[in-house]
Amino acid sequence: MEILKTIADYRQWRKAMTPDQGVGFVPTMGALHAGHLKLVASSRGRDPLTVVSIFVNPLQFGPAEDFARYPRPFDEDSRLCREAGVAAIFAPEASDFYAPDFSTFCEVAGLDLHLCGAARPGHFRGVCTVVLKLFNIVQPQRAYFGQKDIQQALILKKMVRDLSLDLEMEIVETLREPSGLALSSRNVFLSPDERSRATALSRGLFLAREAWAKGGKSAAALKGIMRGEIEASSPTRIDYIEAVSQSALAPLDTLDVPAVLALAVFYGKTRLIDNILLG
Ligand code: PAF
Repeated sequence: MEILKTIADYRQWRKAMTPDQGVGFVPTMGALHAGHLKLVASSRGRDPLTVVSIFVNPLQFGPAEDFARYPRPFDEDSRLCREAGVAAIFAPEASDFYAPDFSTFCEVAGLDLHLCGAARPGHFRGVCTVVLKLFNIVQPQRAYFGQKDIQQALILKKMVRDLSLDLEMEIVETLREPSGLALSSRNVFLSPDERSRATALSRGLFLAREAWAKGGKSAAALKGIMRGEIEASSPTRIDYIEAVSQSALAPLDTLDVPAVLALAVFYGKTRLIDNILLG
């Protein structure tokens, strides 16, 4: 497995590949867990070469967010990638990746008005900008994103469509612990007590899904079910509990179109997100 730390090194490696050696790409910020490895395995099943990028992207963190304390266990990440059969890791330094006078950004208008977009201004602009730049460098035939970050995945899918980028986007189902907790790099910040309280998130989502499957289509009622379950777990703060359309990510009153139930909740200082798709 190659570890490529500059854009020039990556391009040189990529140029040495033959045209049939298509790249499946898993962009990450490191701190890899089984959810990322599921994305790698999806690519390994389809693409001749799998490339993982590891880059904690400063552009997508707000000033009061956890950029400085975001975990960066690079050696462990490299070991996991090697064992998973990754062909190359692209792990640039921020100083190589963004020139000091970098000033070009990519924004998908509209889909970032609600959910995490409302709570984290500028976040998706930072995500789209870094992913577009990564796509330009990595030149993948296919890219893999987790459903846990559903707003990110749908925004990036739209970016690829709107800008006619020549690659396929794959959204891979969320991996959960036996407790139901969605895997996330931020779970390492949870104390044992917070981790056990945070299982309320998936319980709330699953209870709401059951009610929806029995014919409950009122967004207020479904959100009430989730809120009840989550409030009983004494969260530090509920950022949002929402029912939105899959097409526009806009809040719904009635779930009569394909929908997403999504939430973001703090336990201690750790902000967790989760969602399920309905319809
Ligand atoms: O999902 C993530 O880890 C990041 O948002 C991504 C897609 C790697 C862009 O920095």
